[in-house]
Amino acid sequence: MLVLGLMSGTSADGIDVALARISGAPPKLKAKLLGHTSVKFPRAIRKEILYVAEQQSIPAGELSQLNFRLGEIFATAALAACRKFRVSPSHISLIGSHGQTIFHQGKPVNFLGSPAASTLQIGEPAVIAARTGITTVGDFRPADIALGGQGAPLVPYADYLLYRHPKLGRVSLNLGGIANITVIPAAAKPSQVFAFDTGPANMLIDALVAHFSKGLLRFDKNAELASQGRSNAALINELMRDPYLKLRPPKSTGREHYGQAYLKKLLNLGRRHRAKPNDLIRAATVFTPLSVIDALNRFVFPKAKIHQLVVSGGGAHNPLILAQLAATLPNIEVLPSSRLGVPEDAKEAFAFALLAYETFHNRPSNLPSATGARGPAILGKISYAPPR
Ligand SMILES: Nc1ncnc2c1ncn2[C@@H]1O[C@H](COP(=O)(O)OP(=O)(O)O)[C@@H](O)[C@H]1O
Ligand SMILES: [Mg+2]
Repeated sequence: MLVLGLMSGTSADGIDVALARISGAPPKLKAKLLGHTSVKFPRAIRKEILYVAEQQSIPAGELSQLNFRLGEIFATAALAACRKFRVSPSHISLIGSHGQTIFHQGKPVNFLGSPAASTLQIGEPAVIAARTGITTVGDFRPADIALGGQGAPLVPYADYLLYRHPKLGRVSLNLGGIANITVIPAAAKPSQVFAFDTGPANMLIDALVAHFSKGLLRFDKNAELASQGRSNAALINELMRDPYLKLRPPKSTGREHYGQAYLKKLLNLGRRHRAKPNDLIRAATVFTPLSVIDALNRFVFPKAKIHQLVVSGGGAHNPLILAQLAATLPNIEVLPSSRLGVPEDAKEAFAFALLAYETFHNRPSNLPSATGARGPAILGKISYAPPR
């Protein structure tokens, strides 16, 4: 089957599209990435997504409109990718679309008198199926939450298929808005794989850069600003006291914790420590690898021998993050995922192509050891293409 995966993460920077050829079934499933591309969101759309994801209130009608508009935008991205890959959409069997997360509460909290967990990804799959003529799987997370899981992370299933190794223990690290790891011990069975969000990856850096540049810059390309800042150990130590780091996995986080309110805290912290803007950007940048390493030390190394750390996501292009990881983990090989054949910017989109393929074949693809669900779940909802 040719399958397209569409991914837009918490950074809301745009849509990553991956084209994969997938055949067979686990443990003999075969998946090959044939191409990948990405499409930026129009400015006004990105602004609206961030507004909603920061839990600012909008009328229900506006949310409904945004859901359908995003469906159109995802469909356009899928069709543009087909042109780029020179494949007719009629040759593509399936799309897996993660959608845009606008709310994620993985652990139950009190809601109107009883506990509730929930998650909401928008970008209407029915619109994607209608525009592209390709059956589309979307809404992957709710089925896991319905079984008591956190609905995240879901990429570990793909990590397991792509990275498991008979002799090498591997950790897959994705640096999107949030940083998450999947631990795949050597020769692991699926039940031995575990995964969780370690904390922020690019979200705080992006927020600081947008703040100090008054919206002119969206991110710190190649850590240019952070590299001009001075390292401030006291400030970084204070960041490392973030209570999220100590929470035991399974755990997941997002803009609800590391959004605008956290940015305010960071700016206050910066003032108290007399940090210049670039010093603060540097501290937020270094916070990412240090919190990943903290998570490895606390929750991973006591349980599994790790040989390689495989890094993907936009943050894999940040040289300061990579250098810090390599310097602090001398006994572990830190390598970009492209070295294992999966381009950094295609990993998650590729994963959702795989998850869609599994769903289409009625197979579960959550890993209960990663999400905390009571058992396996067949993820997602299928929007069928109109009859040809
Ligand atoms: N060359 C680069 N240098 C530094 N950071 C980068 C670079 N390219 C991408 N990024 C970071 O990666 C982020 C996007 O990563 P991505 O994996 O798409 O995250 P998400 O899944 O949250 O959308 C950007 O917002 C930016 O912070
Ligand atoms: Mg992205």
